[in-house]
Amino acid sequence: LQHLLTIEGLPREILSAILDTAAPFTEVAEREVKKLPLLRGKSVFNLFFENSTRTRTTFEIAAKRLSADVINLNINTSSASKGESLLDTVDNLAAMQADMFVVRHASSGAPFLIAEHLAATQRDHIHVVNAGDGRHAHPTQGLLDMYTIRHYKRDFTRLTVAIVGDILHSRVARSQIHALITLGVPEVRVIAPKTLLPSDVERLGVRVFHDMNEGLRGVDVVMMLRLQNERMNGALLPSPQEYFKSYGLTAEKLALAKPDAIVMHPGPMNRGVEIDSAVADGSHSVILPQVTFGIAVRMAVMSMLAGS
Ligand code: CP
Repeated sequence: LQHLLTIEGLPREILSAILDTAAPFTEVAEREVKKLPLLRGKSVFNLFFENSTRTRTTFEIAAKRLSADVINLNINTSSASKGESLLDTVDNLAAMQADMFVVRHASSGAPFLIAEHLAATQRDHIHVVNAGDGRHAHPTQGLLDMYTIRHYKRDFTRLTVAIVGDILHSRVARSQIHALITLGVPEVRVIAPKTLLPSDVERLGVRVFHDMNEGLRGVDVVMMLRLQNERMNGALLPSPQEYFKSYGLTAEKLALAKPDAIVMHPGPMNRGVEIDSAVADGSHSVILPQVTFGIAVRMAVMSMLAGS
């Protein structure tokens, strides 16, 4: 791997190799083992042009546990606010001997643009990791979700997985769907109102449900998504109460899934909108373990890209 820009098109062997590489790193992520020297002497630049709690922080922790130097560019106080272009910013950081850019951007394709620019200027020894671009892809979230499913369910090839909520605006859903299908999950369901589904959703290889009760019946894994209002351009939406009634995950609806079903959410959660607190904090929830596994998975990705 040179860059990690999307899960789409990556073969099963690569996805499995990332999950396998992450497994021993969970001990480092959980601080049972000290730092590893795999990225010693390397500089990882976190470029988050969009807000983040989990992704930015776990990338930083992961890079530090691999002994890298980590530079978090504060976009609000950077010269991007004076009109400097994305590629000029990248050129200047590259001149500071960057080895890796971890990029989140509101525009779909921004990390691809950076990777193309680095190749065109003979600097493609610098690795680019997509930390979420617009509504397009969030590959490390998709991978940590796969790691979580494998941890609790072991065998992808026997599972029915439901992804519930705002699929249309979700980069997470797209990465999850590509990963689940590539890893051999035989039934991937999406549950959403028509207005929150991409027009070509069935071409992704999923089964579509509009009724949450029908869609949740017998599933092993429930992956919830929030309404991504920041990407809706003021579209007319149901009220949070109306949305919760139809698509909010409650204990009553969860009872339709398998008794040992797990509940996932990439965060940030909007309690009382897409998920009830009793479920988010309940015995089926693996939402916080997802975050911890994110450190190990990001360690795996960074060490496979740039590790010595
Ligand atoms: N899941 C996720 O991307 O969360 P953050 O926006 O907090 O990074």
